Amino acid sequence: MTEKRVIITGARGLLGQKIVEVFKRESEYELMPCVLEDGVEGYFSLDITDHHKVMDAVSSFKPSVIVNAAAYTDVDNAEVEKELAYKVNATAVGYLAEAANVFNAKLVHISTDYVFDGQKGNYSEESKPEPINYYGKSKLAGENLVRAKVQDYAILRTQVLYGFASDVKKNFALWVIDKLSKGENIRVVDDQIGNPTLADELAFAILKVCQRKSVGLYHVSGFETISRYEFANRIAEEFGLDYSSIKAIKSDELSQHARRPKDSSFICLKAQAELGINMPSVKDSLSLMKQQMKRAGAVELQNKN
Ligand SMILES: NC(=O)c1ccc[n+]([C@@H]2O[C@H](COP(=O)([O-])OP(=O)(O)OC[C@H]3O[C@@H](n4cnc5c(N)ncnc54)[C@H](OP(=O)(O)O)[C@@H]3O)[C@@H](O)[C@H]2O)c1
Repeated sequence: MTEKRVIITGARGLLGQKIVEVFKRESEYELMPCVLEDGVEGYFSLDITDHHKVMDAVSSFKPSVIVNAAAYTDVDNAEVEKELAYKVNATAVGYLAEAANVFNAKLVHISTDYVFDGQKGNYSEESKPEPINYYGKSKLAGENLVRAKVQDYAILRTQVLYGFASDVKKNFALWVIDKLSKGENIRVVDDQIGNPTLADELAFAILKVCQRKSVGLYHVSGFETISRYEFANRIAEEFGLDYSSIKAIKSDELSQHARRPKDSSFICLKAQAELGINMPSVKDSLSLMKQQMKRAGAVELQNKN
């Protein structure tokens, strides 16, 4: 069996952990999981903003694929830390693309619905990006560098990414579970809609991209278009938490630094047809997340099903 070598950057982020899990299940892959920090057991240290280190890592490991799950993901802080956001989400992505091109590797890169302004919704791969916040601008610049510097690439745009993994930043679902489990009230916007996507499912789509040697841009998200408020209610229902503690509000009532697209929903027909993926319902995805959390003893669930 031929061994395929895969570099995974941002390997301890939410998506990065899921990618490592999914690829480890396939015996033909040898992995080089990379993290930003030094000295984490089982991981290589790779700051993707360090051009020399990126070139060194790729020239010495000789991967057939580089999967970039590293990113500057703090949407509000990106309005303030513009330089750092651009460095990680654009300049460094250019380094990875250059290294992939020079050393004949495929680059699989993850992008976002925030490249769209959210005026219309139902965005396909052909829709024109028009970011309304700096995070979205920096991610779009990263996409453009990938397209310009390497031919064998796949860019997967996703949205409302959630799931359970150890020591990750609280994603929306983990935040709702945490607050409601503590009996706290939460205010959630009902005028931002999109397609919640379980990170495990996106990781599986990334594996498919590698197996099928797919090239180009793909929209990959859950198929249900719902508001954040509706999503919070579905989370409460699945986890047996009190949804009377969830109050619907409008985006204007939140003082967020960065503007958010109102409707950034995706059309994912290309990914369905070419990658053969069928995303499960929000209910089934939440149920899988609940099982993972139960196994890890990560939350006291009120319903013990
Ligand atoms: N979360 C969402 O709702 C969402 C929606 C659409 C698209 N996406 C995209 O999906 C991808 C994965 O997101 P995620 O939710 O898994 O993010 P995450 O949990 O924040 O993980 C990102 C990882 O990147 C690492 N990182 C940051 N700067 C780095 C650098 N200079 N060099 C190497 N690693 C660095 C972070 O390390 P530290 O933690 O040590 O900083 C972190 O482990 C990103 O491309 C993101 O833009 C996310």
